[in-house]
Amino acid sequence: MEKILVIILGLLLTFPSIAARKPIYKDSSKSIEERVEDLLSRMTLEEKVLQLNQYTLGRNDNANNFEEQVHKLSPEIGSVIYFSDSPELRNSLQKKAMEESRLGIPVVFGFDVIHGYRTILPVPIAQACSFDPELVEEGASVAAMEAKKAGVDWTFSPMVDIARDPRWGRVAEGYGEDPYLASVMAAAAVRGYQGTDPSDGKHIAACMKHFVAYGASEAGRDYVYTEVSRQSLWDTYLPSFEAGVRAGAMTVMSSFNCISGIPSSADSYTLTEVLKNRWGFDGFIVSDWGSIQQLRSQGFVSDKKEAAMASMNAGLDMDMMNECYDAYLEDLVKEGKVSEARLDDAVRRVLRMKFRLGLFEHPYVEPTKYMERFLLPEYLETARRLAEESMVLLKNDGGLLPLSKPSSIAVIGPMAESRFHHLGSWQGKGTGEFVVNTVAGLKKRFPDAQIVSAQGCDFDGGDRSGFEAAVKAASEADVVFLCLGEKNNWSGENASRSTIALPAIQQALAEEIAKAGKPIVLVTTSGRPLDLHLLEPLATAMIQEWQTGLESGNALAALVSGDYNPSGRLAITFPYSTGQIPIYYNHRQSARTNQGFYQDIPSKPLYDFGYGLSYTTYSYGKVEVSDSLITKDSKIRVRVPVTNSGSVDGTETAMLFIRDPYCSVVTRPVKELKRFSRHEIKAGETYVFVFELDPQTDLSFVDSEGRRFLESGEYDIIVKDQIIRLTLK
Ligand code: GLC
Repeated sequence: MEKILVIILGLLLTFPSIAARKPIYKDSSKSIEERVEDLLSRMTLEEKVLQLNQYTLGRNDNANNFEEQVHKLSPEIGSVIYFSDSPELRNSLQKKAMEESRLGIPVVFGFDVIHGYRTILPVPIAQACSFDPELVEEGASVAAMEAKKAGVDWTFSPMVDIARDPRWGRVAEGYGEDPYLASVMAAAAVRGYQGTDPSDGKHIAACMKHFVAYGASEAGRDYVYTEVSRQSLWDTYLPSFEAGVRAGAMTVMSSFNCISGIPSSADSYTLTEVLKNRWGFDGFIVSDWGSIQQLRSQGFVSDKKEAAMASMNAGLDMDMMNECYDAYLEDLVKEGKVSEARLDDAVRRVLRMKFRLGLFEHPYVEPTKYMERFLLPEYLETARRLAEESMVLLKNDGGLLPLSKPSSIAVIGPMAESRFHHLGSWQGKGTGEFVVNTVAGLKKRFPDAQIVSAQGCDFDGGDRSGFEAAVKAASEADVVFLCLGEKNNWSGENASRSTIALPAIQQALAEEIAKAGKPIVLVTTSGRPLDLHLLEPLATAMIQEWQTGLESGNALAALVSGDYNPSGRLAITFPYSTGQIPIYYNHRQSARTNQGFYQDIPSKPLYDFGYGLSYTTYSYGKVEVSDSLITKDSKIRVRVPVTNSGSVDGTETAMLFIRDPYCSVVTRPVKELKRFSRHEIKAGETYVFVFELDPQTDLSFVDSEGRRFLESGEYDIIVKDQIIRLTLK
């Protein structure tokens, strides 16, 4: 032994560079792949397993037990869900990982930054109604900057589940019913979160969730089964995830549901065959909170060890709060039930993300003062613009809006004064204290008007004692803002509702207020489409405000004053009533076009996908297509002249749909969105929208195995009510 030591010592003295040379994984001049492989080769089985686990630092972040929390966690832990907004706690845990662990692998800190961190933006379903991916990207970058400075490296967002059942509470978190719109918004959010250099200290890793088909939860109930054919998987539920992966999303989160009997968190077809093999995804997949151990309750495995084996072998890389991988993976590998190769593949993916985030070079977050990192004026400006563009004008009889110098306004209803309920679900570190509510927004915009508010009733219950004061306020005002809607937690996770109508007490209040005979602006605040068909007749004007975050009141005031001409368009259908659900625009054709309707209610929705009014009118000129006889290699150019035929400048979103009236492989929807573009058009002026289509991508479809095909035959280009038929030879 002594001889060996003498030789080593001699070598080190002779070649000091050997001792001084840092390991490849610590050398930032080396490629990420070289560094990953070098580090992986140095890790023990136990260290590898710990990298595949995510714990939480507890929900309490009071300073007096930081050290206790930090002490509990292993320095080799892969990730922590970080509920605190102070970088100090994060840095103290990171210090432990960098200095006390054998290899100094940094922890990656994750959190649900769904629509803003401290500067809360509109809920994603509302943002989708802006049809403004650039602004959605800007919003995500604001969220990333606030989150990063608070100590968060990774957000569990964007949620891109296609949903067509608004009884499901999580419809609030996604981008609506259409795969194309959701794909565009998914890519925009990924770009906003990650930027072009996710290691720049201003950006964070994105996470596409919940993979996959969670939005098909039967009857809108949460965590349940989804009956999804392979065809629907490829046609409807996978495209938005593929768009996010192509945009460079660094992680994906598996989902709670099972896909026609196979729990998604143990489904090798979607997790490995589709995501990793077909799409070449080189990031990692994290489970949802508990979704591995829930394989037991889904009846797929009998115990947690089996659950760990099923998920790991299906391709799920990191365990979020299941306590399965940390407890059983080491044994499973030793027993040969999980291969070393699979384990190494998972660890490689986690390490790759940490290198890409620059965590080895910059493991700590520079502490900043509270108001240096949150709620900056430019952040609030983004929030306000996004709120203005997200709200949708549903009705405006007699041009009641924009209001011209109202002298007295009554603001009535459970949302009249509420702040907190404007935040929406998953409000991150947002609080109601910074919300500009409806009354505050109107008072600020109309300082000379007399503005009186009266709650009238609560969100639900049967207490009508506030009605009298509300009716009195209405009768004494020129115009009434009737502010109804949902509580914050009526949508979001574990928030299914059997009906999308508002509680009876709110309907009763509306009917009493209507008796005052004053013009009513109905403003609805919700995280889901609502059944408005009984409220619609009572209102002169209607605005679907959604839950639009900190700047709600200022944005609403901008719309109703005409400072901003409404441009929002619905990203999800508003059913006539709950009984119509599911109802969405891109449905397949029925066998009988003149039969099969409901006997007791209309069969058309109250408001269609893409619906939204403006204070001006837009006239669509003749749509021109470069050629109606095309080949598979043609490039199709579509020109859409739109004139602002009203007297107010506005922003129009032109939407181009396609239709394949006859497809011999699988029938196609009555129409499918393939392009959209928004543009400001001044009163009296004409703007020509130009869209380029490529038959290979825009007229082709995928079959039940995801194989793309393009058939010769007829295709329709649909813009508004114009249909141009093309023939593909
Ligand atoms: C939750 C949600 C998921 C979230 C995760 C972490 O159960 O399903 O969207 O990101 O747990 O909070």
